[in-house]
Parts: sequence; structure tokens; C-alpha cells
Amino acid sequence: MSWTVELDTAPGRGQDEEAMTVTWDDGRTERMRLHEYERVYAIPGLYEEVVQNRLDCLGPAVLADALVDAAGSDAPRVFDLGAGNGVVGSELHERGVEVLVGSDNIAAARDAAHRDRPGLYAEYLVGEVEALDPVALVGRHRLDALVCAGALGLGHITADAFGALWAPFPAGAVFAASVREDLARPGGSDFGDWLADPPAGTEIVRSERFRHRLTMAGDELHYMAVVARKA
Ligand SMILES: C[S@@+](CC[C@H](N)C(=O)[O-])C[C@H]1O[C@@H](n2cnc3c(N)ncnc32)[C@H](O)[C@@H]1O
Repeated sequence: MSWTVELDTAPGRGQDEEAMTVTWDDGRTERMRLHEYERVYAIPGLYEEVVQNRLDCLGPAVLADALVDAAGSDAPRVFDLGAGNGVVGSELHERGVEVLVGSDNIAAARDAAHRDRPGLYAEYLVGEVEALDPVALVGRHRLDALVCAGALGLGHITADAFGALWAPFPAGAVFAASVREDLARPGGSDFGDWLADPPAGTEIVRSERFRHRLTMAGDELHYMAVVARKA
């Protein structure tokens, strides 16, 4: 069945409150918040139509470029954290990068990734980051790169969980992560504090402001693309 979607353009909504209405061709309507990821991913193409097309989200492409740049001539072996249905994973794949592991805390994301981008991930894990076994994962896939696009802060992945996942990555590994600019500052969020005082051996090599996407009301949302390397 086909659908159309209308964004709620009322001004002043927080990112967590942004909402839209899907109208099916039999006339049924469904209103959902963009952050109700289970419901959004359940409808093939809806996330891409809203986030990539209507809100012109640049985050996945910006982070994929940043990760490829940081990896230099090496072919990175990537873990995609908060992978959703694979938008950043496919940006990396288009740049010739092997995205070996994806993870998200909801099964609907994994199901949508397998449905929409079969074969993109060698392994896709569902669960909280704290429940992963990062030592085993890094060893099993010889991972040396971590990407986390739009999944930090705002009640998503915590800095502690991100740090625990990053810890077993080997010397020379890189990560590229995006976070809303106010949350990237010290005192702005747990991740802002983590970036200001990263673990020993982790060097922030790039931190760049970019226009992540538009809000549904048409304002610009700026994020920081942060790249780090392990000594
Ligand atoms: C804005 S989407 C970004 C998805 C993907 N990285 C991309 O660029 O298209 C944020 C994703 O983070 C996931 N997420 C939120 N909290 C999480 C958590 N605690 N652990 C793992 N994933 C989480 C959501 O389910 C959602 O798929």
C-alpha cells in the first residue's frame, strides 16, 4: 500500500517533539513523532523520505567522508553504532568501506536494515550498548573504525556507553561521531564532557560544525562532526 507524509511545521518544537502524519491510500492516517523509531522504520522508505529528502539531512554523508578521510589509505573495518536502517552504513559502502557490524537498541532498526539494505552488515546486533561484548566484537571482525551518526545525546546513547565500546579498539583506530553543537560543548552534555577530557591515548583530530538538517519548522540544525584517533 502506498502512503504520503505531511510534516507538522509548527514552530518551537524540540527535536524529540517533531511529528508527522502518514496517510495511506485507503484514507487511514497515522500520526507519529520522528523519534518513535519503531513506527518510522516499520514503513519502508519513510525515514529516508522525511529525514534525507524533506529535511535534507547531511549528517550521514558528512560523517562517512570524515571517516574515510581519517582512515587515509587504509580500508577501515567499521562498527556502525546506532545504525538505524543503515543510512550511514550505505554512505560508507558507496565509498568502498566495509561496514561489518551495526547495532541499535531496537529490533525494528535491524529488521528495516535487513529489509532495505540486505547484506550491508555482516552482523547486526540489537540491544543496549552496555550489553554488547566489544572486546569479542573488535577481535572477531578486526574492527578499527567506529561511526556514530546522530545517535548521541537527546536520550540516545550515553557517553559512558560510547566510551566503553571505543575502549577495546586498537591503536590507530578512528571514530567519527556527530552530535548537536550545544551538546558537544563541555557542560553541554555527558558527551561534551567526554570530548573535553577524552580517555588517555584518544586524540580528537577534527571537530567541525556543519548544517546537519532542517527542522520540520524550517530552521537549520547544526551538529559537530568529531573525529578521533587512538594512539
Ligand atoms: C537519528 S537515528 C540515526 C540512525 C543512523 N545512524 C543514520 O545515520 O541514519 C538514531 C538511531 O539511534 C538509535 N538509538 C537510540 N538510542 C540508542 C541506544 N541507547 N543504543 C543504541 N541505539 C540507540 C535509534 O534507535 C536510531 O536508530
